[in-house]
Amino acid sequence: MHTAVVGGGLSGRAIQHALTRRGGTAELFSRSTGFDVLRDDAARRLGHAEVIVEATGRFIIGRRSAMDFFTRSTRAIATAARASGARHILLSIVNCDLPEVQGYGYFAAKAAQERVARQESENLTVVRSTQWFEFAGQNVDRMRFGPFAFVPTMTIKPVALDAVADVIAECATRDRSGATQEVAGPEVTTLWELTKQLPDKRVTPVPLSIPTRYGRAFRSGVLIPADQVEMVGPAYSAWLPTLG
Ligand SMILES: NC(=O)c1ccc[n+]([C@@H]2O[C@H](COP(=O)([O-])OP(=O)(O)OC[C@H]3O[C@@H](n4cnc5c(N)ncnc54)[C@H](OP(=O)(O)O)[C@@H]3O)[C@@H](O)[C@H]2O)c1
Repeated sequence: MHTAVVGGGLSGRAIQHALTRRGGTAELFSRSTGFDVLRDDAARRLGHAEVIVEATGRFIIGRRSAMDFFTRSTRAIATAARASGARHILLSIVNCDLPEVQGYGYFAAKAAQERVARQESENLTVVRSTQWFEFAGQNVDRMRFGPFAFVPTMTIKPVALDAVADVIAECATRDRSGATQEVAGPEVTTLWELTKQLPDKRVTPVPLSIPTRYGRAFRSGVLIPADQVEMVGPAYSAWLPTLG
């Protein structure tokens, strides 16, 4: 089975590995491989794939730019999938559609992306995960100012990205079925706790209490999934040594 993985970032590579471990082939498509989902002919470039995994991302907080990016990405992929008959798997975030977090442009855009995908894709699976363990490092890179990095105070139930990639691969190979899959890691913690334990001590983390409705919601646990959401992957303490 051949899969096109659009978005060759952290998740794109993990998904590619999970698919190839199962004997499939997976090709990464992003601007660095010569494919811009907002400009190029997705139907022509992705038309040979049986499954298209949409794992594009851009760290944009501004509502309008985030909406523009995520909804246009999904429209292009839905159109390509309809044209070729491919299945469309969209990577999204648990609870991104809750009213309390719609003030955060990135989450409002992910919720809009899910709506557009459901309207426009004929054969769609939405895989929603909680924040990845890797998000602690991503946040440090994105929120770094000189020797400091701001860490938004949020209570989360994070998960290992490889475990999420396995779930996506199982959807691709039809070992899982269902229009929506939601997964989380085994423990409730905070982004601060994850960040403090990162082995790279070159940056000093500084807690950031976001003074908005969504900031308060992050702190009080709005991102923690419902009890019935499936738990996958190891605990953070078991995963950390794999960072090397
Ligand atoms: N981080 C988390 O904890 C988490 C949890 C759940 C879900 N998610 C979701 O997972 C998705 C992927 O996140 P990620 O952290 O893997 O993102 P990432 O590391 O930032 O990678 C996203 C990739 O998208 C590609 N991209 C950006 N603009 C593009 C364009 N116009 N055309 C084609 N490719 C483009 C980029 O590659 P190029 O620069 O080469 O184009 C980039 O490598 C996001 O939608 C995110 O919301 C993240």
